[in-house]
Amino acid sequence: MPDADDLKEGKKYYTDVPQETEGFFLKGCGHLDWGMKNRLARIFNPKSGRTVMLAIDHGYFQGPTTGLERVDLNIVPLIPHADTLMLTRGMLRSVVPPSLDTPIVLRASGGSSILKELSNEGIAVDVEDCMRLNVCAMAVQVFIGGEFEKESIMNMTRMVDIGTRYGIPTLAVTAVGTDMARDARYFRLATRICAELGANYVKSYYVEKDFETITSSCPVPIVMAGGKKIPEIDALTMAYRAVQEGAAGVDMGRNIFQSDAPVAMLKAVGAVVHNNETPEKALELYQTLKNQE
Ligand code: R5P
Repeated sequence: MPDADDLKEGKKYYTDVPQETEGFFLKGCGHLDWGMKNRLARIFNPKSGRTVMLAIDHGYFQGPTTGLERVDLNIVPLIPHADTLMLTRGMLRSVVPPSLDTPIVLRASGGSSILKELSNEGIAVDVEDCMRLNVCAMAVQVFIGGEFEKESIMNMTRMVDIGTRYGIPTLAVTAVGTDMARDARYFRLATRICAELGANYVKSYYVEKDFETITSSCPVPIVMAGGKKIPEIDALTMAYRAVQEGAAGVDMGRNIFQSDAPVAMLKAVGAVVHNNETPEKALELYQTLKNQE
């Protein structure tokens, strides 16, 4: 213990240097608390302001999706190449090594299956477990226009209340029913409702026309959902357009883990998202890396 009488007069006060007050790089998140910002800064790269989330939570309502039959064999090797991993707590605990430091976004809603009405979800995880699992955000599905619209919105607002109490951000995942139009008008409505009711960031599908009106009218970051598997050049083009039109990254599943070369695809998407690489250049990168795999 230092002696009290050994204290020297401090000289390094730098009275002429004002203390810097750092702004926060994510849209609409400047007034959040430190823990929230710290978790968001692990999900989103502070340099690019964007993220590549690898989504592997499909099993929570549809079982072992193609490419996710053996998460231990097919997905674990990909995890270090993703900025963030989105999955369920069951898969996290049973197969993901805790030594990996990729931030986790935990699927927090559930309770339905492909055999029944998908919008009939509830909150499926306790916040204590989210803290125990050291997660960086909790993801809740919101079914605007769906049969259980109100319940799914209330699931999200409840998670926002709990998350705000403990400093854990909530990601609202906009889900589209089979009979709903996937257009900018729908996603402006859905993403804005989620943001107005407190979501810290929102996941939206990409639409060819007027996507930028969705990102500009949503006051918090939007990440683009991937959707069903399409050719690599099309997926890279979709990701490129989304970030150029205002998305803060992507949350992709099947277009990565169903690709012939998933690590190469993850890196190619990363080049598009973080370095503004064109889809053509990113495809070249994908093919080069694929040949090396
Ligand atoms: C869907 O409900 C899941 O939450 C997935 O995370 C989401 O659909 C993204 O995966 P994909 O890119 O395969 O659509």
